[in-house]
Amino acid sequence: MAGVCIGDWLGEATERLAVAGVDEPRLDAELLLSHHLGLTRVALVAHPDRLLAPAEIASLTALLARRAGREPLPYILGTREFFGLHFAVDPRVLIPRPETELLVERALLLVSRRQPSQPLRIADVGTGSGCIAVALATHLPNANIYATDVSAGALAVAQKNAATHGVESRVRFLLGDLLSPLPQPMHLIVANLPYVARQEWDMLSSEVGYYEPRPALDGGPDGLDLVRRLLAQAPAYLLPGGALLLEIGAGQGEAVKESAFAAFGGGATRAGMPIGSQPQLYRPPSPQPSPLRGEGVRAPQPSPRRGEGRVRGEPTLPVGRSWKYPSVMLFADLAGHARIVQVST
Ligand SMILES: C[S@@+](CC[C@H](N)C(=O)[O-])C[C@H]1O[C@@H](n2cnc3c(N)ncnc32)[C@H](O)[C@@H]1O
Repeated sequence: MAGVCIGDWLGEATERLAVAGVDEPRLDAELLLSHHLGLTRVALVAHPDRLLAPAEIASLTALLARRAGREPLPYILGTREFFGLHFAVDPRVLIPRPETELLVERALLLVSRRQPSQPLRIADVGTGSGCIAVALATHLPNANIYATDVSAGALAVAQKNAATHGVESRVRFLLGDLLSPLPQPMHLIVANLPYVARQEWDMLSSEVGYYEPRPALDGGPDGLDLVRRLLAQAPAYLLPGGALLLEIGAGQGEAVKESAFAAFGGGATRAGMPIGSQPQLYRPPSPQPSPLRGEGVRAPQPSPRRGEGRVRGEPTLPVGRSWKYPSVMLFADLAGHARIVQVST
């Protein structure tokens, strides 16, 4: 490709990525090029005749080969946007997914309705890149966040992300299993734990199954090993009136409800909102930057039917049939009773 210009390179790279089966080959080629040259995509389009230096071509060829080998683009670029913030990512962490922004939105909405007498304490369990913890810390200046993970590598990435966004003094990273490293009970626990069922493993795209860390995805035989254990631990780690927000997978709602009720007790079930009452549907979050502090939290919108309105960009969690979006999230309000709200179907 010596002596080629931007336009030529983009054309050839797009073709190569298309042949490799990449979903959006032109977009990925542009993103690789703009990232490497430090130019916006608009600048690429505006200057298609700009010649590439031999050294640039050599580096770009290597990057292109990685993408053509189906390595996820965020690992190649080393960054991923989540909730309007840029997060460093590498193969030690799951690439943050757009749908997990919904968890952050729900948490902010929930917190905005509460006026705790003391600074909020929030736990993010299985923090990975730290995307949830850092996004919450950025939007909640009075909150102290405790972020746990069993992966020391993930915690190193998360720590770096907290520092990049200037919240490292309010996010404590704790190595250990689920809630056990927490020093005290929390007002709010949020978690996006591994929830892929083992038998679904073969349905994952090669980009997910091969490149992303298995311990970040594998939830055991039915996907709920960690979620069940978390639910069992949660009552002891929540302050009175505390709340728990979980991201779980499509079709896991009923099983998780059962575990939640078992964990929080039958009395809680009677006092709470009946299971199955008015499921509320939500749209997967848009890839637009999320609301900034002071602008309030976006009200959740009705969802398109599953399979419609797919979020553009990096394929989301398992791309097999039933895995495009986590279909159910549970919210348990423990103000003396448990309330379970099914927020998506
Ligand atoms: C699905 S990833 C989510 C990462 C991040 N919270 C996000 O939403 O992008 C799950 C994370 O849970 C961590 N994890 C797995 N088992 C765990 C356990 N027993 N205790 C704490 N974290 C765990 C994994 O290392 C991984 O970082």
